[in-house]
Order: sequence, then C-alpha cells, then structure tokens
Amino acid sequence: MKKIAVLTSGGDAPGMNAAIRAVVRKAHYHKIDVVGVYYGYEGLYNGKFEPLDLGSVGGIIQRGGTMLYSARFPEFKEEEIQNKAIENLRNQGIDGLVVIGGDGSYRGAMALTEKGFPCVGIPGTIDNDIPGTEYTIGFDTALNTAVEAIDKIRDTATSHENTFIVEVMGRNAGDIALWTGLAAGAETVLIPEEEFEIEDIVARLERSAARGKRHSIIIVAEGVMPGHKLGKILEERTGVQIRVSVLGHMQRGGAPSARDRVLAGRLGAKAVELLLEGKGGRAVGIHNHAVVDYDLKEAYENKHKADVSLYTLSKELSI
Ligand code: F6P
Repeated sequence: MKKIAVLTSGGDAPGMNAAIRAVVRKAHYHKIDVVGVYYGYEGLYNGKFEPLDLGSVGGIIQRGGTMLYSARFPEFKEEEIQNKAIENLRNQGIDGLVVIGGDGSYRGAMALTEKGFPCVGIPGTIDNDIPGTEYTIGFDTALNTAVEAIDKIRDTATSHENTFIVEVMGRNAGDIALWTGLAAGAETVLIPEEEFEIEDIVARLERSAARGKRHSIIIVAEGVMPGHKLGKILEERTGVQIRVSVLGHMQRGGAPSARDRVLAGRLGAKAVELLLEGKGGRAVGIHNHAVVDYDLKEAYENKHKADVSLYTLSKELSI
C-alpha cells in the first residue's frame, strides 16, 4: 500500500479533526501518502481530493468540526455511484480508505470493500451509538457541552423554582440523555430505548413538590419526542408552567475534550495499521480500555443498546 485516503461523513463530531490528523501522521510515519476527500461520500463521487501532507494537519487537534467537511449523501447506496467512487480512487493511485463517521457511513465503506476496495471505519458521532465500541469520538465532548448547559439551566431553575425540560440530541440513541442526566443530576431522563408513562413523570413531579422541592430538570432525548410537545403534555396534566430548552447543534460543536482527542489518536492510528496489514472491511473501537477491530457489518447489522443499568441508576439517584 502506497497511498490511502480519508474522509468524514454524516453528522460531524468533535474529535474528527484529531482523527484525521492521526491517520495522516501515522501513515506518513510509515511512508504512506494520504489524500483527503472533501464532503464525505459526495466528494468521493465528485472527485474532491487533495493531498494531505504532515503540515496540512498541523494545529487542528483542538478544533471542533471537520477540516474535510461532511455531507449526508444517501445516493451512495446506488451501485453506479459506488463504482464511480472506486474509479476515482484508483485513478489517484489510492489503495485504501479510512471512513470516519457513524453507522450509515460504515455501510458505504462495506459496499466499497465488497467491491474489492479496502476500507476501515472509525466511529465518529456524538451519539455513541455504534455497536462494537464502547465509545465513539465526539460523545465525551457533547456530553460535557450538554452538562455545562444544564448546570446553567439548573441555576436559574432553582432561583425561579421552575420545571425545565431539556431536549438533547439522539435520534435513535439515549446515551447523551442518559449520561447527561446522571452527570447533571436530572430528576427524570427519557431515552428512546426505554418506554415511559407520563403518569410516572407526573408522580415524580408531585412527589418532589410534596417534599418542598420546587424545581426540576427533565432530560428528553430528541428521539423520544420533541421537548416542546412533552412540555405541553405535562403542562396540561399538572397545571404547572414548564420551560423548554432545546440544546440542538451546539452539542456537535466545540473543541474536543482530552478524552476524545486521545480516543481519536488511538483509533486513527489503528485504522492505518489495519490497512497496512491489508485488512479491509474492519471497524475500530474501544473495548475494556483496549483498541479493538471487528467486522464493519457488526456495527450496522446489530442494534445499539443503551446501558440499562445506567437508566436504573439515574432513577434510583433522583428518587
Ligand atoms: O448523528 C448525530 C446527530 O447529531 C444526531 O444526534 C441528530 O439526530 C442528527 O445528527 C441531526 O442531524 P442533522 O444536523 O443532519 O439534522
């Protein structure tokens, strides 16, 4: 292998830049050239390639977003588009590709691998929802961003004795909501993986009110229902005014945490090693603190499971 390419795809995540840097530096360490593909799979199809030398990834380890930009490109499912992408890669003398993204991005990487072009996937998404790895790049930063925001909301909720609903990201996965809830001491956490009853939330609010507690924070993952909708339901049911804050895309931005930078460095280097060993169709991840690799298909054919013990714990601690 003489030349590899790297792209970022899907929703961006803090730490993607640190992962790009790790891929470029590790490859150059082994005297392999690297090409950056801009705009994810769309750029792969349109031939948006630029060489990445050592200097091109200087000063990005601490930057949020992705210097390679990202795009959602559902058309990449089409075979003709995949063939064109491979043709573009081969024309540049590239013989391996690192894809940094979520499970949708992994499907594209597997399709190319099955067509004879080796790809390795690095988990980059704030949602922490890729089966086979305990952590994804960006999750820790997003979690800290959400916790910081909720700490601030709690200050004003306490001063004014308000009940707040805070909607966090996570269309299919409750990890951000769950971890944020535990870290910020939220009274209630709602995640897509666990059913809930409105009456339980009402009972909790009433129990706290009876104890003299006049403020409350309810965290809802966007995949459960929009925070404003939940707010309306609870207002109608309790007669209490509910404030709603939607944290939104702020959770995807900002400088990556130290943990995300280190994770990105470890996983980026491993991805290059796998390509050098001629191993395509692999995903890299973390299991029991160690870097692991596994079949890319495992990442998208299995369903991510939130840690139910954390859900139970959050209920116990916010009794
Ligand atoms: O996958 C990351 C994520 O931030 C999800 O949590 C969220 O549902 C989604 O992306 C939002 O994507 P978009 O910005 O494309 O609407």
